[in-house]
Amino acid sequence: MSDYRGVNRQMWDERAPAHAASPGYSVDRFADDPEFLSYVVQFDRPRLGDLTGLRGVHLQCHIGTDTVSLARLGAQMTGLDFSPVALAEAKRIAEVAGVTVDFVEADTYDAVSVLGAGRFDLVFTGVGALCWLPDVRRWASVVAELLAPGGRLFVREGHPMLWALDDVRDDGLLAVRYPYFETAEPMAFTEEGTYVETDVTFVHNTSYSWNHGLGQIVSALLEHELVLTELVEHDSVPWEGLPGLMVRDDATEEYYLREHRERVPLTYTLQAMKPQFSAS
Ligand SMILES: C[S@@+](CC[C@H](N)C(=O)[O-])C[C@H]1O[C@@H](n2cnc3c(N)ncnc32)[C@H](O)[C@@H]1O
Repeated sequence: MSDYRGVNRQMWDERAPAHAASPGYSVDRFADDPEFLSYVVQFDRPRLGDLTGLRGVHLQCHIGTDTVSLARLGAQMTGLDFSPVALAEAKRIAEVAGVTVDFVEADTYDAVSVLGAGRFDLVFTGVGALCWLPDVRRWASVVAELLAPGGRLFVREGHPMLWALDDVRDDGLLAVRYPYFETAEPMAFTEEGTYVETDVTFVHNTSYSWNHGLGQIVSALLEHELVLTELVEHDSVPWEGLPGLMVRDDATEEYYLREHRERVPLTYTLQAMKPQFSAS
């Protein structure tokens, strides 16, 4: 798949302004309330701990709502994304929120050459990020190189089991339709809409994505000498992952299966540390 980046970037460039204008991203609240944090960051707040003074990078930061939230919690944040349009929105949101964030346009796989190795105490990513990358081992090597000794990776991401489920059934059953494991070739989707509410009509509707099994993700991190410190599977997801089958909790803006939520994990939070001293 040679031009997956070009095709995906067109799709993201077109959707970023619609996302920033959608109630789903609560952009106005960043301007109105200096304490407001994105619901994604609120969800993991107890796991994030004290971020004061940490040098953080948010990979695939999109329109920066989580990046700005981490900055509000005291981290010195850099946000990286390959979509210049998303980054323009992110800069605007940081400005209205009154926080300083350095936004950098680059492919995730180029993050080390663009930002430098060993510079970060925190690498944060997720919520629909890993699925745009073909090779999870290559991603893990980028994360390991970006981290300073003693630094940590923090991921909250769609569970590979959720990505594997058929999301257009109308019989209420959960059925596995897409690959759970990473595949050499991507899945190609053509979807007119997006994952938040919008009236915008899009033109670039094709995207290429990959799933990565949970074991593959963890193994890739271990291979790069990161130490797993937390792995929690959740029965909720911050977008309507299985339309028609979910209920939204208005307080947290998380979606749960309406029936038998114990059936399947929908997201996970993972943390891993880079040891102070390398074993090799
Ligand atoms: C669903 S968004 C991530 C969600 C984000 N956490 C949020 O909701 O604010 C996916 C982001 O990944 C970015 N992206 C996709 N492929 C990328 C790549 N190869 N390198 C860098 N950014 C990429 C897109 O531009 C998009 O902004």
